[in-house]
Amino acid sequence: MKAWLCETLDGIDAMRWQDLPTPEPRPGEVRIAIQAASLNFPDLLIVEGKYQFKPPLPFVPGGEFSGTVEALGEGVTHLKVGDRVAAVGSVGGFGTDACVAATHVLPLPPSMPWDDAAAFAFTYGTSHHALMDRAALQAGETVLVLGAAGGVGTAAIQIAKAAGAKVIAGVSSDEKAAMCLTIGADAAINYTTQNLRETLKELTAGKGPDVVYDPVGGDLAEQAFRSIAWRGRYLVVGFAAGGIPALPWNLALLKGAAVVGVFWGDFVRREPKVFAKGLAQLMQWYGEGRVKPVIDCRLPMTELPAAYRRMGTRQVIGKVVMTRA
Ligand SMILES: NC(=O)c1ccc[n+]([C@@H]2O[C@H](COP(=O)([O-])OP(=O)(O)OC[C@H]3O[C@@H](n4cnc5c(N)ncnc54)[C@H](OP(=O)(O)O)[C@@H]3O)[C@@H](O)[C@H]2O)c1
Repeated sequence: MKAWLCETLDGIDAMRWQDLPTPEPRPGEVRIAIQAASLNFPDLLIVEGKYQFKPPLPFVPGGEFSGTVEALGEGVTHLKVGDRVAAVGSVGGFGTDACVAATHVLPLPPSMPWDDAAAFAFTYGTSHHALMDRAALQAGETVLVLGAAGGVGTAAIQIAKAAGAKVIAGVSSDEKAAMCLTIGADAAINYTTQNLRETLKELTAGKGPDVVYDPVGGDLAEQAFRSIAWRGRYLVVGFAAGGIPALPWNLALLKGAAVVGVFWGDFVRREPKVFAKGLAQLMQWYGEGRVKPVIDCRLPMTELPAAYRRMGTRQVIGKVVMTRA
């Protein structure tokens, strides 16, 4: 097999596409012949030792991929060789083959193509858990999605619309704003050229958004929190901008608002039944065409460094999918 092996925590430029022995699945694992893998922001962090999950070196990064089951470890009975599956929440995806715990594997409907399957569970799972479970989003409410053209952001727009909410997309460029409108956002704000607070006031008749979905952090967070509606819910999803915001707590008091943490990985581990229920709803919405990954571009697996650069420089609109080399 071939894969990108991370031997030091010096980032993607220190890694090589190399031959490795094809592993045999251990008890409880399956080996998957990978057809597609998508890039998520944690893939950037993990090869520099900056992600909360630190796998022992050396490891093959790639937390989300799709492919065919090609070998079964002892004790795996619910899957068979030849099954089309997606795997999520682990490492190993940026290669031709990977062994993963069978519990991290999701069977796919026959109609779901490899690229959608590789770009679904992580982003849609996170945004569904955040909006529907943590924020208890109601039809008719208004959601502000920051970083709305990114992976979890595009998923959040589509999920909020499927739930009957009004969506305001916050992004850093007019190109990103235009794309968000094509996938269902009711309005878009370019926060590099427009004043976030003033524009939110105009768009919500002074009330502010009921829910803020924030995977960006940094300087935007306090502005967005100051704009939130009475009884608002502020979803802390991530810190793509790098800075972890510190908010004056009086703002939460004045708005009767809640700061709500979102940690999808632990949610899946701790609450597998709730996760399964959410995933079933997402698969139903996917089947009805109400949610569908926005694919920024497809690149052969050998071009992984270019994909990392694209994500690290905020150029990605939707998801980058790596295809079998
Ligand atoms: N809590 C959880 O369970 C969970 C699960 C999945 C992901 N996350 C987190 O959610 C965040 C987004 O993940 P993603 O996979 O959707 O990433 P992504 O596709 O790269 O989207 C991130 C967005 O953040 C914005 N951004 C602002 N400053 C940036 C910077 N300096 N570098 C890169 N992007 C910047 C960009 O939008 P603009 O250019 O429009 O500002 C970009 O589209 C990450 O922090 C990730 O760790 C959390």
